[in-house]
Amino acid sequence: MVRIGVIGAGFMGGMHSQCYALLPGAKLIGIADIRKEKAEELAKKFGATAYQDAQALLKNSEVDAVDICLPTYIHKEWVVKAANSGKHLLCEKPIALSLKDANEMVDVARKNNITFMIAQVIRFWPEYIRLKEIKDSGELGRLLSLALTRLSPLPTWGWENWLQIPEKSGSALFDLHIHDTDYILYLLGRPKTLFSSGTKIKGGYGHIFSLFEYPDSIVSAEGGWDFVDTLPFRMAFVARFEKGVVEYNTSYNKPFGIYTAGKSEYPKLGEDIPRVTDTSGNISELGGYYNEIKYFVECVQAKKKPTVVTPEDARDSLALVLKEMESAEKGEKICEF
Ligand SMILES: NC(=O)c1ccc[n+]([C@@H]2O[C@H](COP(=O)([O-])OP(=O)(O)OC[C@H]3O[C@@H](n4cnc5c(N)ncnc54)[C@H](O)[C@@H]3O)[C@@H](O)[C@H]2O)c1
Repeated sequence: MVRIGVIGAGFMGGMHSQCYALLPGAKLIGIADIRKEKAEELAKKFGATAYQDAQALLKNSEVDAVDICLPTYIHKEWVVKAANSGKHLLCEKPIALSLKDANEMVDVARKNNITFMIAQVIRFWPEYIRLKEIKDSGELGRLLSLALTRLSPLPTWGWENWLQIPEKSGSALFDLHIHDTDYILYLLGRPKTLFSSGTKIKGGYGHIFSLFEYPDSIVSAEGGWDFVDTLPFRMAFVARFEKGVVEYNTSYNKPFGIYTAGKSEYPKLGEDIPRVTDTSGNISELGGYYNEIKYFVECVQAKKKPTVVTPEDARDSLALVLKEMESAEKGEKICEF
């Protein structure tokens, strides 16, 4: 049994807590939030103890692993504190907003020899997992092109509106679009070149278009949260292979399709994920979050370091996002990484 403490009882704290509560191998022990009422609300729902001071949660020797669902600009502070208290750690993405902070986090986890994972959830999302299987197996031939999309209205739920403050969240480029950048690295590794362009909100990229060139394929990714509030959040991809197309779009009635000569298939994926729709924020199903939390708990149980996403992978995704920002700022293609 892995005994869990969650720090941050906002949108993601609620989502992760629901996942732990569904896993027989995990037990929620404590939930901390500086907004006492948020910690109490979640703790009551899941039969855990509420803390207003996260340090007190870290001092609880009954807690084996801590899940950091805090605003991004304080990830490093709390990862360092939790790692030095010997707890295993899951921390929400993006790992940090600077490579200096990310490296410090990677180092402190290594020094304390803990299981440390960054919640790059798209690596655990059923449709994206299937796309990687199709690409890696070569069942549809070579991947020729891939277009990824992630669109959202402005996030309004954040504590003290931190998401809309670029110095705290990095804006859509670091907070939203990094999901696709991370997946691109997972699927194809580092690109040969990249070019990005975007538009800003309050000085941060609220909308970004990036083009990644590979020796055999070309990849585009659009991410933006500057849409009107009635537009439903959507994530999507179109992957063109030599022998067919794989498409996913959360705004379609049949979200996932595989199209080959004379044949259209719409497999239903993730049927094993429990259905829960009691969430806030812009995503209403457990989807990949359940798989991700399950994997983290299994790694802690087995005393294994995560391999699906390593802390270094998450740091590399941040590094690529920083290169996208550099390209957009300079208006130049980047050919060296
Ligand atoms: N994987 C995803 O799809 C996804 C989606 C949304 C957010 N996120 C990430 O999750 C993290 C949290 O985002 P969110 O949307 O849940 O934000 P949120 O504002 O809803 O929640 C953050 C919570 O942290 C609390 N808090 C702030 N400082 C604290 C402190 N010192 N001690 C204890 N509690 C404190 C706030 O009161 C708030 O309840 C961010 O890194 C964000 O990028 C990931």
